[in-house]
Amino acid sequence: MSEADDGEDSIDVLESLNLLPENYEAASANTKRLQQQGKFLKIKDLKKTYDSGFVAVKGVNLAMYEGQIFALLGHNGAGKSTVISMLTGLIERSEGNATLYHKDLFEEMESVREFMGVCPQHDVLFDMLTPREHLDIFYDFKGGDPARKQSEIDSLISDVGLTIDKDKNAHTLSGGNRRKLSVSIALCGGSKIVLLDEPTSGMDLGARRGLWDMLKAYKRDRIIVLTTHYMDEADVLGDRIGIMASGQLMCIGSSLFLKNRFGLGYKLTLVKKHALLSPNVEPFLQTYFAGVLKQSEVRGEVSFVIPRNQTSSFRPFFEAFDTKLNDFDIKSYGVSMTTLEEVFLKINQELAPEVFGTPEKDKTSDRNTLKESGLTADSKLALSIGHSTFRTTDLSVSELGSPNGVSQRKRMS
Ligand SMILES: Nc1ncnc2c1ncn2[C@@H]1O[C@H](COP(=O)(O)OP(=O)(O)OP(=O)(O)O)[C@@H](O)[C@H]1O
Ligand SMILES: [Mg+2]
Repeated sequence: MSEADDGEDSIDVLESLNLLPENYEAASANTKRLQQQGKFLKIKDLKKTYDSGFVAVKGVNLAMYEGQIFALLGHNGAGKSTVISMLTGLIERSEGNATLYHKDLFEEMESVREFMGVCPQHDVLFDMLTPREHLDIFYDFKGGDPARKQSEIDSLISDVGLTIDKDKNAHTLSGGNRRKLSVSIALCGGSKIVLLDEPTSGMDLGARRGLWDMLKAYKRDRIIVLTTHYMDEADVLGDRIGIMASGQLMCIGSSLFLKNRFGLGYKLTLVKKHALLSPNVEPFLQTYFAGVLKQSEVRGEVSFVIPRNQTSSFRPFFEAFDTKLNDFDIKSYGVSMTTLEEVFLKINQELAPEVFGTPEKDKTSDRNTLKESGLTADSKLALSIGHSTFRTTDLSVSELGSPNGVSQRKRMS
């Protein structure tokens, strides 16, 4: 039995070792069963110092579970690909160990590779082979069951969206289709641990959505690790999300946890009937939400940020506001939650300012408005870059303090 598999370390304790307690959410209780069955990947104190002396990964502790997708996020150069390259054996680790399915990943790399699939950040394909031929070869490399070979390859080609291009040489494939092929190679031949480094980069929107559905279906009996710069992708796919900066994990948790921890609150968006917003609106909002702040006014829409601790006022606010819409010349309104983009930017700003500093000119204007708003510099920064994604599903009914809260909202027209 390997060191990392000796049961001495509680996974929760291990994962939270280098994190502030408030930046860590333990995996859900049902992962305990997976832990007992060994159906997880545990990474312990993984470090990488390149020959140049640069320390790219400074001690990563993580667990990823079967049936789940772990989304690893981070700025350019954060160390995501270095972590993945070490786990696949492409580059040598400097320190640390990892276990999965009762095996020591580094000591038993040969046998682990039989059930490991990798989609590297940059496609490594054979120019003169077609997608079908690639899958044919990799299926055999991985020692996949010959009886299931054709049906699995057919399904992969169809699921990933390569049916039309399945017999074209790889060097003639478009960038997005090369990515699709790399992902299907990673999934083929009985891969139980699948490492996908920016799998959807270069894919069109339809292809990305298609791949999301595919990965959701394929994660059932696999451990999937995915890096991405698309926050919506991490939000949709990541059962758990880890955000790295400068070679270290800064936080781990579900999307909702991270939004609650780092988000500013809810965004109220109003659609005006006329060009000018009624001057009575802001005072009205202030009577319900202390600290409400106007975020933006673009064309017919005005957005306000409502601090998270004010959500208990949503119910009376909805009831009163619905009767005032005509007086205020408001066509409709809606509420959305903090986006993962805001979380990502805030984390980098707060925990890794050396790589994500605020531009000087923004700092000046921030300082002026901060005095008025009473918010912290970090909150204000995230506010100024907030996106306007209207997503009713983000709003938790219980957080609104009213089972009727959601239905009382008007849908945006
Ligand atoms: N062979 C190498 N020698 C020295 N430094 C390296 C080497 N390869 C990578 N690095 C450095 O290690 C750091 C982490 O790189 P890595 O590729 O892991 O980042 P990443 O998080 O995957 O970034 P991206 O989002 O841009 O893909 C970077 O600063 C990079 O310049
Ligand atoms: Mg990378």
